[in-house]
Amino acid sequence: MAADVELERVSKLYGTFKAVDDVTLRIPKGSFISILGSSGAGKSTVLRMIGGFEYPDYGTVRIAGQDVTMLPPHRRDVNTVFQNYALFPHMNAAENVAYGLRQDGVAAQERKLRVREALQMVEMLPYAMRKPSELSGGQQQRIALARALVKRPAVLLLDEPLGALDRKLRQQMQVELKLLQNQLGLTFVFVTHDQEEALAMSDSIAVMRNGRIEQLGGPTELYDTPATAFVASFIGAQNFIAGNRVDDTLHMQSTDGVTFAAGLATPDLARGAKVLGAVRPENVSLVVDEAHAASNRVKATVVASVMLGDSLEYVLRLKDGNEFIARLPRRGAQALSSGTEVFAHWEPQFFQLFPYEDLREARSVGA
Ligand SMILES: Nc1ncnc2c1ncn2[C@@H]1O[C@H](COP(=O)(O)OP(=O)(O)OP(=O)(O)O)[C@@H](O)[C@H]1O
Ligand SMILES: [Mg+2]
Repeated sequence: MAADVELERVSKLYGTFKAVDDVTLRIPKGSFISILGSSGAGKSTVLRMIGGFEYPDYGTVRIAGQDVTMLPPHRRDVNTVFQNYALFPHMNAAENVAYGLRQDGVAAQERKLRVREALQMVEMLPYAMRKPSELSGGQQQRIALARALVKRPAVLLLDEPLGALDRKLRQQMQVELKLLQNQLGLTFVFVTHDQEEALAMSDSIAVMRNGRIEQLGGPTELYDTPATAFVASFIGAQNFIAGNRVDDTLHMQSTDGVTFAAGLATPDLARGAKVLGAVRPENVSLVVDEAHAASNRVKATVVASVMLGDSLEYVLRLKDGNEFIARLPRRGAQALSSGTEVFAHWEPQFFQLFPYEDLREARSVGA
């Protein structure tokens, strides 16, 4: 059934450009891993090397312990669902699903049974006779999934399979995919640039940046203890304050001389190092009266409020011109009109220190 996948020191070069740079990754069998990163990070290239559509220049790929590094796709116990699901337009849904089995020479009777089973799995049996043009985007996506599942691969590779769907359908498919994976116990490797999707679905997430894995961990670990400011900003939202670490303490002093207490710092921070302090919008509170603010506080002006359904997001402007975001539960939140002067404040336990880095690149892309 399921198989584990192992990448050991894998690199892929296009000319002198390292699309994938020394990636080591162990994916336990039966687990759901997401590869998350912005456009061009190398996600698809990693997937294509697992699938056999691309061969690495360095390193080893193993599936179920077997070295498959240079094997072609059809000799691997793997199937891929591509982003543009590429169904055959002249075939109906059942014929699309049956196609691979026919290629493999599976006998007609077994073929029929397995196609039926696969269509049932994705709840598309009633649509078996429809052409792709007669199906919605989500239904076509499910047929593409059935087409991959029917071959009963030990590992299923999915390259942004939900990218073309609208938000509601996408969320519905996320749940269905996750249930299916649980039920079949297959190994899923899921590429996405949508951090919410990765958080919702994965046992573990590999965050890629410039061809490398910047952090590998479970959703909670990545959200609560990101290893770098990049991961912190890429997963969820963050407010950053730049400054310097105060000696060996968990305090930082911002560029305009205000001291902030942190609850956490990455282990690699030297005393006095240039740092970014980070607090998530949902951990920020607002008060008008400074006397009621926690010790970590900044003075700010309300620029706008955004209604998010269950929460209310305030966009604030700091004295230095930087933006600061507070997200408050809507129940009981006070209404603050634009132009109101407030204090944004937060507890030290929600404030983390990272080595300073320029995040303009990280912020301009991604979800
Ligand atoms: N055949 C190729 N020749 C040259 N460069 C390539 C080739 N394929 C990919 N690249 C480059 O390698 C890098 C990684 O590409 P890859 O497709 O893996 O990115 P990605 O993370 O999947 O991005 P996206 O989210 O846009 O799909 C990119 O900079 C891309 O331009
Ligand atoms: Mg890609």
